Formats: sequence, structure tokens, C-alpha cells
Amino acid sequence: MKIAILPGDGIGTEIVREAVRVLDALELRYESETALVGGAAYEAHGHPLPDSTLQLAKDADAVLFGAVGDWKYDKLERQFRPEQAILGLRKHLGLFANFRPALCYEQLTHASSLKPELVAGLDILIIRELTGDIYFGQPRGRRTAVDGHFPGAEEAFDTMRYSRPEIERIAHVAFQAARKRNKKVTSVDKANVLETFQFWKDVVTEVHAQYPDVELQHMYVDNAAMQLVKAPKAFDVVVTGNMFGDILSDEAAMLTGSIGMLPSASLDKNGKGLYEPSHGSAPDIAGKGVANPLATILSVAMMLRFTLNQPAAADRIDTAVKAVLAAGLRTADIWSEGTTKVGTREMGDAVVAAITGKTITKTT
Ligand code: IPM
Ligand code: MG
Repeated sequence: MKIAILPGDGIGTEIVREAVRVLDALELRYESETALVGGAAYEAHGHPLPDSTLQLAKDADAVLFGAVGDWKYDKLERQFRPEQAILGLRKHLGLFANFRPALCYEQLTHASSLKPELVAGLDILIIRELTGDIYFGQPRGRRTAVDGHFPGAEEAFDTMRYSRPEIERIAHVAFQAARKRNKKVTSVDKANVLETFQFWKDVVTEVHAQYPDVELQHMYVDNAAMQLVKAPKAFDVVVTGNMFGDILSDEAAMLTGSIGMLPSASLDKNGKGLYEPSHGSAPDIAGKGVANPLATILSVAMMLRFTLNQPAAADRIDTAVKAVLAAGLRTADIWSEGTTKVGTREMGDAVVAAITGKTITKTT
């Protein structure tokens, strides 16, 4: 198996370093190659997704991705901004199915801004369509504009669009995922206003006929945003389009109080995947050694489970992370009174120690 390692920008390099150490601790046989992506690639090669990086990702069985972006690139023409790297990878690799679990760890129940009883034991899965919708719809642009920031433009537009096959395949992914969980899918749309999402709702309903054992519920996106903070545990699998999924997955992640804990997987039709933490590049804390590497470490577990067919190794990572939390180790983002604050490297050390069976030493 070959893994492309793309750390990216900001805290990306620090957290991916720890995730790779954890992967190595499992002593599996794998090949890997590391490449620049995002702002780091732009600085070195003049493009956030150089051909060589894209080719490496295409040739690999799985991609481990850190994060991209920094405010300093906001003034660049859109095609050169770091975010284009992840959008380009999703599109070119056909990574249409994005799994974003929101899991509330027992020890972190109090990290949520919601009442503990609302989130205790929370385990929901957002499945976001990732290669269609207004993110990739054509046409798009700004009238009267020529390049860069278009100060003189009078109007701008992006096109929201979904095709039947795009909706069908993500609906199948959602129903199949629900079968392995609590057999309930909430499809989120805005069918009361948008044609694209009336179509979405119709197609999801059609596909549902093949899954009579799974319960399907439709919900408008505004209501879904509200229900997620009102009664999050009422959801099991949530399936939605690219843009609503972007927004709702951040909301769901924060229910757990710790976006630094949440992994994600973006899969193609054959199960090849790109694995990345749900959080961003956090330029404000980059290089300080304080970022939480657990989301990236847990993304490695998803990679082992979904693409590399090593479920036992994935379980070892999940168990190690739980052991480290139980031992009271916390990075700054999840720290609370009475626990031990550790940095990125120490957190990585602790997970490695838990995997290799050594005792976890508390460091203060
Ligand atoms: C995400 C991010 C990306 C997105 C950005 C970085 C392009 O917010 O993965 O959720 O909007 O999809
Ligand atoms: Mg997002």
C-alpha cells in the first residue's frame, strides 16, 4: 500500500508528523511519499496543487492530508489560493463522498457549549456530497470583471447544480452507512425554495425504495441547523449537498466541543480516500507545538478502516486515543481544570506509547 502524505500549511505539518509516527508505531508495511500542497506549494512551485502533487495523490492508495490556507493568501487570484488545492484534489480524484463523524468522547462531554445531557454519547455521521453543487457549478464569475479582486464588478454569480447520478450515488452511500448504524437517514435540502434541492429530495426518495429497512426523513437546512443544537442525538446519518454539508458539519463538529478531535474521510467510488482532520490550518497557533493532533491521528484510523482494509490496526488507534484521554492528557483546545495540558508532540508520544503498550507518562 502506498500513502501520499500532504501536510500543507499552518498546523498541518505538526499534526501530520504525529499522525505518521502513530502509523509507524503500528509496524504495518507501507510505502509513503510526501509532497507540498496549498500555500506551501504555491511558495515553492507557484501553484497550490502542482502537477507532481496531484500525480502522487492519484498514484497512491490513500492520501493523508493536513490542512491548507493562511490569511496572507486572501489577496491572490482565486486559482492560486491554498483552498484550491483541496478542491482540486476532491474533483480530480473523484472524492464525492465525505464522511464527517461527530462523536462526543465521554471525557470531553463538558467541552461542549451545549448542556452535557444533550451531547453525552452523541454519535452522528454527516455525509456531505463533495464534488458537485454550487462549489463546482458552471457558469460562475463576476460580470465586468477581468481578474483578481474585480473592484469594478457590478454582479457575481455561482451556479447551484446537481445531476441525477451525483445524487443517486451519495444517497446509496448514506443508506448503506445507515445500515451499519441506527438505520436512520435525514436528507437535508432547501426544496421549499431551490429547484436543485427539490430534485435532490425527489432522487433521494427514489433511491430510498431500495432500502426499506432504513428510515428516511427529509428536513430543510434551516430547520436542520436548529435541530442540531436542540436535539442532536435525534440524528443518525445526515446526508446533504456540498454547501449545506460544509456548514452543518462545522456545526455538528462543535457540538462535541472539540473540532480538534474529529477526523474525516473523502472517498471515491472504489473506496480510495483522502483523510484529513475536520479542522483547518489554524495559522494563529502554527509552529507553536500546541495544536491537537488527535483529529489527524483518528483520520489515520479511518484510512486503515475504509481504504487499507486493516480494521484491527484502526481499532488499536481508537483504543489508544481513548486511553490517552482517560489518562487525563489534553491539548489546549480541550483542556479543562484537573487535566494535564500537553503539546502536539507530547500528545503524539502518548498515543504511540499507548499503542506500543508502554505506560502513558503525564508530562506537565
Ligand atoms: C472544508 C473546508 C473547505 C470546504 C475549504 C477549505 C475549501 O471548509 O473542508 O469543510 O469549503 O469544503
Ligand atoms: Mg468547511
